[in-house]
Amino acid sequence: MELKSYLRERAALVDQALDRWLPGAEILPARLHEAMRYSVFAGGKRLRPILIFAACEAVGGQPDRVLHAACAMEMIHTYSLIHDDLPAMDDDDFRRGRPTNHKVFGEANAILAGDALLTEAFRLLADPEANRGIEPGVTLKVIEIIARCAGSQGMVGGQVVDMESEGRPIDFATLQYIHTRKTGALFLASIQAGALLGGGNETQLAALTRYGETAGLAFQIADDILDIVGNQAELGKDVGSDQARGKATYPALLGMSEARRRAEELRDLALAALEPLGPAAEPLRAIASYIVDRKS
Ligand code: IPE
Ligand code: IPE
Ligand code: MG
Ligand code: MG
Ligand code: MG
Repeated sequence: MELKSYLRERAALVDQALDRWLPGAEILPARLHEAMRYSVFAGGKRLRPILIFAACEAVGGQPDRVLHAACAMEMIHTYSLIHDDLPAMDDDDFRRGRPTNHKVFGEANAILAGDALLTEAFRLLADPEANRGIEPGVTLKVIEIIARCAGSQGMVGGQVVDMESEGRPIDFATLQYIHTRKTGALFLASIQAGALLGGGNETQLAALTRYGETAGLAFQIADDILDIVGNQAELGKDVGSDQARGKATYPALLGMSEARRRAEELRDLALAALEPLGPAAEPLRAIASYIVDRKS
C-alpha cells in the first residue's frame, strides 16, 4: 500500500475538522485561541488521529465515526507537547518547526493554552452532534479510556517519572514505565478508541491492544534515537536535549544498537498482533514499519 498518500489524506481530514472545531483566533480571549491554534497548526504528523482511523478501518468501521475522537486526541497530544516544552519541564525552544508556544505567547499563556486544549478535547468527545449515531455506552467507554490514558496513571504519570529520573541512574523497569506511559498511553488510547467506535469485537480489541502497546513503545524508542541521530530541520524540534538533560532513554541505558534492536523487535510484535485482522489492518502494518524507520 501507498503509506504516504494514506497519511497525507487522513492528516488533511483532521486538519480541516480541527479548524472547524477549534474556536477561531478572533473569538475572545483571542490571544488564548491564537496560542492554541499556533501549536495545533504548526504541522504535526497527526499520527495519533491517523491511528484512530486505521484502527477503525481495521475492524471494518466507517471512518466518519471517528473524526471527532481523532481531533480530540490531537488536541490532547498538542497540549502535552506545549507543556513538555515549558521551562519547568524539558525547556525546549523549537517544536514543529517553530519557536515553542511559551517562547511566543509567554509561559502563562502556554500553560493555559494547554489546559484549554485538554478541556476542549473532552468537550468534543462528549459533543452530541459529533456522537450522533454512536451508542451512548460506546461514547462513555471511549471517554473513560482516553481520560485514563491521559491522566496520572497514563501520560501525565509518565511525564512525572520522566522528570524525576532526570540526571539519575535508573533501572530498565523504570525506563519502560516512563515510555509506556508518557507516549505509549496515548497511542493505546487512540487504537482502542478507533476500534471501539468502529464497532470492533472483543477478539479484535485484544489484538489491537497488543498492537497499541508494542507500537507505542517502539515509537518512543525511535523518538529517543532521533534525538541523537536525527536532523533538527527535518524533525522540527531541538535535538540533543535528552543527553543535555540526562533523560532516561533507551540509547542512554542500553546503547544505540540495542535500542534499535528493541524497536525492531517491538515492531515485529506489533505486526504479529495484527495477524487475526487480515487485509483490513494493512494501514496499521505500514504504520508499524514507518514508526521505526521514520526520519521525523
Ligand atoms: C512527539 O510526538 C512527542 C512524543 C510523544 C515522542 P510526535 O513525534 O508524534 O510529534 P508531532 O505530533 O509529529 O509533532
Ligand atoms: C514526550 O517525550 C512525551 C510527551 C510530550 C507526553 P519527549 O520529551 O521525548 O518528547 P519530545 O522529544 O520533546 O518531542
Ligand atoms: Mg519530555
Ligand atoms: Mg521533550
Ligand atoms: Mg524526545
